[in-house]
Order: sequence, then structure tokens, then C-alpha cells
Amino acid sequence: MTKPSTRSTTPSVHRFKAIRNSLRFVSDPISVLDDQIARLGPTFFTYIGGVYKGLLTTEPELIQHILQKHHRIYRRSPMHFDKLSHFLGHGLLTSEGDYWLRQRRLIQPGFHRSRLAALTEIMQGVIDGFLDNFDRELEKNNSGVDLYPKMMELAFNIVARSLFSANIKEHELRRLSTIITSLQEFIIKQIRQPYLNWWFDMSGQLQQHEILAREFDEILLAIIHQRRLRGEVRDDLLQMLLDSRYEDTGEGMTDRQLLEESAILFVAGHETTANALSWMWYLLSQHPETVAKARAEIDQVLGGRKPTFEDLPQLEYLTQIIEESMRLYPPAWITDRIAVEDDYFEGIHIPKGVVVIAYFYGVHRSDRLWTDPHSFDPDRFSKDNKKSQAPYSYLPFGGGPRLCVGNSFAIMEMQLVLAAMLQRYDFTLMPDHEVIPQALITLRPRHGVRMRVKPL
Ligand code: HEM
Repeated sequence: MTKPSTRSTTPSVHRFKAIRNSLRFVSDPISVLDDQIARLGPTFFTYIGGVYKGLLTTEPELIQHILQKHHRIYRRSPMHFDKLSHFLGHGLLTSEGDYWLRQRRLIQPGFHRSRLAALTEIMQGVIDGFLDNFDRELEKNNSGVDLYPKMMELAFNIVARSLFSANIKEHELRRLSTIITSLQEFIIKQIRQPYLNWWFDMSGQLQQHEILAREFDEILLAIIHQRRLRGEVRDDLLQMLLDSRYEDTGEGMTDRQLLEESAILFVAGHETTANALSWMWYLLSQHPETVAKARAEIDQVLGGRKPTFEDLPQLEYLTQIIEESMRLYPPAWITDRIAVEDDYFEGIHIPKGVVVIAYFYGVHRSDRLWTDPHSFDPDRFSKDNKKSQAPYSYLPFGGGPRLCVGNSFAIMEMQLVLAAMLQRYDFTLMPDHEVIPQALITLRPRHGVRMRVKPL
């Protein structure tokens, strides 16, 4: 392997400082990382939790190096995903190596834009039902509503119905949602307080969550069995998973594989989108001129009707709003990869075992890459302006072979939600409500997004 020596030394956070910072890091990682970048530059060595050696970067070229060019010698670091796979098994997000590649090849075509057309109707149906209920709630009490849990509910229902359409019953849907929330909260606890893992085991909390995970599996397995047994054919993601065949054997997935893949789609596919939508409502509430422009476009393209799949590419400005919101508040604000072999990037030695951390939030707000990076300006994503963006400087969906498989699904869903809600309501942020980021596994608004919502 060549070792080009284009850099003399790579800055480093002293281990002692990293340990001292680790408590502050747990409560507010973004401010710790931003301070370190301001002092040390875009790439530096650090100690994660004061223990594991890490290389943090906001350099697009290094991120492209680990996610794409040298992806074969990097794995997702086990810190987050081991916990998730403990409860929900090995789906695309939590698998690695040959198994991941085989599954990715099988599943990816089902998420292609052309295949998603069939899901427009399902998504629109969920949105309509959700907004009818929302209208009724607003009639009863319109003293302000937190849109964050609302977006979580909506995004969860959209994934659930896109996967299982009418096969999933309302009470099952609510139960799955409760279980997922509880599992995710527990996983966050395990990741943030690893020194308490012995206690989670002793106190029975681990076992309680394992029981919940089994209940989750049973609900999904019953739906899968029912679909196979009845031989129904539907236009949903489960059908896509059932119909897909491995190239080499011509066989389909087993029920266990179907279960694990659909469980992971639930997890990967709702909180990220709900966060993106919540940040969008916040940003739009601060930019009435953008709302006016978006509404004018919606009126012009749709003339008061509901969007079809064919209308979506014409909602260009709306899509720019989505892209710009995810630049400022990327729901997946960070990712990491562990080097499984020694590696070099522009003279930086990345020893085997080092975790390279791609800090997407920092990339999106770097003044080396963006003009006036903290300001909201959807025109950055106009067709012309996009051309001048450096590769790997915009990463809401990651990059390389493990790019988010649901990216077109998510964009389509957000277009439909924004179009429907902007046609129906006006939004004003409640006075004194502070909207600040909380960076957990995803980037959420710490105190939610409290709005006064006025039907138009
Ligand atoms: C705004 C919404 C979304 C955002 C910001 C987002 C972001 C991401 C990112 C950054 C990754 C790559 C992580 C890494 O490389 O370490 C990823 C992977 C993934 N996403 Fe998404 N995602 C979103 C919505 C969805 C939806 C709706 C689905 C499914 C319905 C989905 C399914 C997945 C899956 C299965 C993976 C793993 C892919 C693989 O490793 O092969 N995501 N997502």
C-alpha cells in the first residue's frame, strides 16, 4: 500500500482531555465536536468515551475514502448496531460482509423509484387519515401542539402501512410503536451508560426488553405467515420482499429473514424521517417567504388536488426545502466505520481497529464547503447551484455502497407530507419555545417543536 506523505502530523485530542470531555460529550456532543474542530481543524485523532481510538473528520475526501473508495476494509463500528441486532436481528442496517451484500442486492431493486410509484396511494391514504384526526384534535384544543410526536406517529404509520398495507391491524400498529419506542430508549441507555450494563442485566431490564422484542417478532411473523398462507398479492414492501429471488439460487427469503428485514425497515425508516419533518416545520416557521414560495409552487403544480407520483418531480422548490433542512439538521448526524486493516489516507496512518467518525453535521455546516453555512437557503439546491457542490459534502443519506436504501422512499414521503400540510395549515412557533438539537442516535429537537397550527 502506498503511503503518500502529504500531511506532516494529524492533530490529536489528548486522552486526558477526552476523558474530561466525555460527560459534556454525552449531554451535548455537537458543541464539543464543533469546539474541537475550531481548535484542531477538520480531521483529528480522539478517544471515544475516553477509551477507543477514533479519527474524527469533516473532510469530504476522507469520508469518501472510508464509505466508498476503501469501503472493503471498513465495517460499521459495533457500538450502536450490535445492540440493535441483539433485539431485532440482522437486517440490512445491522448486517455485514457477504451476507449484507447478498441482502442488499436482493432488496435494493424494490426501493427503486419506479417501484415506489405503487406506494404513493398507501402513503397518501395514511396522511389523509392522520390529518382528519389531527383536524378533530385541533377543533377540541388549539392552544399549541408539539409536532415532533405527531411526525413520529405519522412516519411510523407510513412505514407500517407501506410494509404491510391492510394486513396490519390498528391495535398491532400501536403495540409495535410502543415496543419500538421502548427498545430504542433502552438501547440509547445501554450505549450512553455502558458501565451500567451489569445493572440492566441484574435488575431484569435487559430481559424485559428481550421479551418485548420477541413480542414484536411474533406480531410480524403472524402477518408474514398470514400473507403466505392466503397467497394474497399486494402492492407493498412485504410483497416486494416476498417476491425477490436470490440471483444464484433463484430462491426467496425465509420467514426469519423476512422478519428481520422488515423489523429493520421499521427502525431505520421512521425516526429519521420524523426528525427531518420536525426540523422542516421549525425552519419553515422561521421563514414565511419560503412557505409562500412553496405554496405558490404547490398551487401551480397541483391546483388544489392531491399529488400523484408523476407530480412529485415537478415540486422542485419543495424538494429544495427538504434538502436544505436536512443539510442544517441531518437526522443521521454522524456515522462511523472501524478499520479492519491498516490503512492510509493522504499520509494519515489509520491503524487497524481505529474508528473513523464521519461527522455529517459538521460537514454540512463547514465554511470550507458552504457559503454562510448556518443560514437556511433552499436555493442552494436549485439545479444550477447543486452542480457546484463538492462530492461528499452533502450526506444526509450517507454515501458509497451502504447509502440509505430508503432515500427515495423518504424524499417521496416528505414531499407528500409537506404538500398536504402546507395546503391545509399555517404554522407559528409558540412564543418562548426553544428549539435546540439533541444528538442521540438521530438528531432530534430536544424539547419538541411546539406550534400553533391554524387550518387555512
Ligand atoms: C429522512 C429520512 C432518512 C435519513 C436521513 C436516512 C439516513 C440514512 C443513512 C445516513 C444511512 C447510512 C448509515 C451509514 O452509512 O452508516 C441509512 C441507511 C439505511 N436506511 Fe435510511 N434514512 C432515512 C430514511 C429511511 C427510510 C424511509 C428507510 C426504509 C423504509 C431507510 C432504510 C435504511 C436502511 C435499511 C439502511 C441500511 C442500508 C445498508 O446498510 O445497506 N432509511 N439511512
